[in-house]
Amino acid sequence: MKLPLLLTNFKVYEKSTGLSAVSLAKIHDEVAKETGASIAIAVNTADLKEVIAAVSIPVFCQHIDPVDFGAKTGWIPPKLVKNLGVTGTLLNHSEHQIPDDVLQKSIEAAHAAGLFVVACANTPEKGAQIMKFGPDLIAVEPPELIGGDISVSKAKPDVIKNSVSLIGNDKVLVGAGVKNGEDVRIALELGAKGILVASGVTNAADPKKAILDLIAPFNTPGKAPNN
Ligand code: G3P
Repeated sequence: MKLPLLLTNFKVYEKSTGLSAVSLAKIHDEVAKETGASIAIAVNTADLKEVIAAVSIPVFCQHIDPVDFGAKTGWIPPKLVKNLGVTGTLLNHSEHQIPDDVLQKSIEAAHAAGLFVVACANTPEKGAQIMKFGPDLIAVEPPELIGGDISVSKAKPDVIKNSVSLIGNDKVLVGAGVKNGEDVRIALELGAKGILVASGVTNAADPKKAILDLIAPFNTPGKAPNN
């Protein structure tokens, strides 16, 4: 996965699921093509097939379970989503936390299926502990800032610094309350290699403009944002 990375988590807002998931995914795809920025999206399992058919950017599954094909009603086998064309998975999001032993097995099962793994952590310390399970990236998000208007970059810059020092260079995404290019610039300056964002894009009046603003600090070779 090329870094820095913008990973938009569509969550399961009404405006980012179903047909709206496909339109929002296409906007991300368009910006990635126009700018060359590394952009990926995490969508609900129910929307994977249609979204994957509509875009060329990496599509993540918001969760997988450590199970194989078989008698596993309602579970999400990583091999199943890999076969659909999924690139990676988000695991242990603050809104979908799983016990450590299950997380470790989920990371192993995702890798065995060929999926890229972004594991989430509420704190730098928890991120460092989860890093031992071997995910590809850790996304650190202070839960109290998720969905709010104050970004982790402005409210808790030490969380970013500590995450990079405890988890490692080239391993840390940060998120929570990230709304604009200034938030992203601060995060990158503090050593993060990308952003996990949701409401800053899903609730934006003009999602394309919001994405262009967020990736402006990436300094990609492509066309400069025109906003
Ligand atoms: O997964 C990203 C998320 O938890 C952050 O949400 O709305 O604060 O960007 P938001």
